[in-house]
Amino acid sequence: MRWLRGGLVAVVIFGSATAATEDIRATVHNLSTYSDPAAGGTNEVCVFCHTPHGANSNFSGAPLWNKPIDTTVTFQVYGGGQTIGGTTVGQPGDTSRACLSCHDGVSGVNVVINAPGSGNYDPNGIYLNYRGSTAPWRMPLLFAVGKNGAGGNYDLRDDHPIGMVYRGNETNPPASLKPTSTPLTGWNTSGDPDGSGGPSIGDLLRNGKVECVSCHNPHLNAPRFLRSGDGNANSNLCMACHDK
Ligand code: HEC
Ligand code: HEC
Ligand code: HEC
Ligand code: HEC
Repeated sequence: MRWLRGGLVAVVIFGSATAATEDIRATVHNLSTYSDPAAGGTNEVCVFCHTPHGANSNFSGAPLWNKPIDTTVTFQVYGGGQTIGGTTVGQPGDTSRACLSCHDGVSGVNVVINAPGSGNYDPNGIYLNYRGSTAPWRMPLLFAVGKNGAGGNYDLRDDHPIGMVYRGNETNPPASLKPTSTPLTGWNTSGDPDGSGGPSIGDLLRNGKVECVSCHNPHLNAPRFLRSGDGNANSNLCMACHDK
């Protein structure tokens, strides 16, 4: 029995260290689930965000982006532009604006530039069938992160800050933030973007900043798309960056 129990422990430890896998088809980001190909919709999955041709060339926040985006929209940000810890909070970076092009509660979730099939291109947007119609479908309040019930549209004041440099003031960084080299175990980091050779906090940053994709991966088959893979069990996700 002793060796068997040892084996089980090993399996459990191994299991917790295995990163969640990317399979967007099994997630709520598979918008084709609610799209009827016979009524102006599609059974394609990626097309709601990406297109192989005719992508939005004015937008570099996410690759081959298939949605019109107004990157000049000004958001109200956390703490009026500064955290209690003294970090400057800027406008959301372009990667976050990719998320907000659906999650601002204003833009149509079902609008694309290049619809499936040939000759269906319009830089101003074409509305695909979604949940029974081709009218613009706006994110309900619960999922509209860029919208505060009281403050109106384009409001990020009640959300964890984004668009700020991690440990913004490197000479005097907030004491409770771990160094960017801190390794992450069991996380999905979409490879090794910071080139440090292993999954670390640095891989979560975009242009050195915390953005939506620092915590979420839009393709990940995991609770709330969280990169920690375990939802936020025991606040593991928060503890990855914060020594609290
Ligand atoms: C709901 C929107 C959405 C859908 C649907 C989507 N993606 Fe993405 N994708 C993004 C965003 C946002 C990024 C940028 C992520 C980042 O910077 O971390 C991205 C990045 C990527 C990248 C480059 C970075 C990486 O993570 O490897 C690839 C490749 C990619 N997507 C492929 C796909 C494919 C293939 C599909 C369909 C099977 C798909 N995506 C569906 C939003 C989406
Ligand atoms: C093409 C539109 C679109 C884009 C772009 C998009 N989302 Fe979503 N997202 C949705 C829809 C639709 C839902 C589900 C809403 C519902 O169930 O009513 C959703 C749900 C979610 C949820 C909740 C998942 C759950 O299990 O409750 C999270 C978290 C999320 N998105 C994060 C992101 C992040 C982060 C990005 C950018 C990397 C992003 N989304 C980009 C359309 C989008
Ligand atoms: C610091 C980490 C972090 C950042 C940055 C972050 N999120 Fe989240 N997000 C979370 C966690 C954790 C949850 C799960 C909350 C829960 O389960 O109650 C969540 C939940 C969500 C949900 C589900 C609805 C909800 O409120 O529970 C959506 C949608 C979402 N995030 C989108 C975004 C978008 C869009 C951005 C960027 C504007 C973003 N998130 C930035 C950590 C983060
Ligand atoms: C990718 C790293 C990262 C993750 C993950 C993360 N945070 Fe943060 N968080 C930051 C940074 C960077 C700041 C700005 C630091 C500062 O100025 O103190 C911040 C700021 C905050 C603040 C505001 C502090 C202030 O001074 O106003 C709170 C509260 C907070 N985070 C809580 C959380 C919680 C709760 C979670 C988990 C749901 C979480 N964070 C996950 C990086 C992260």
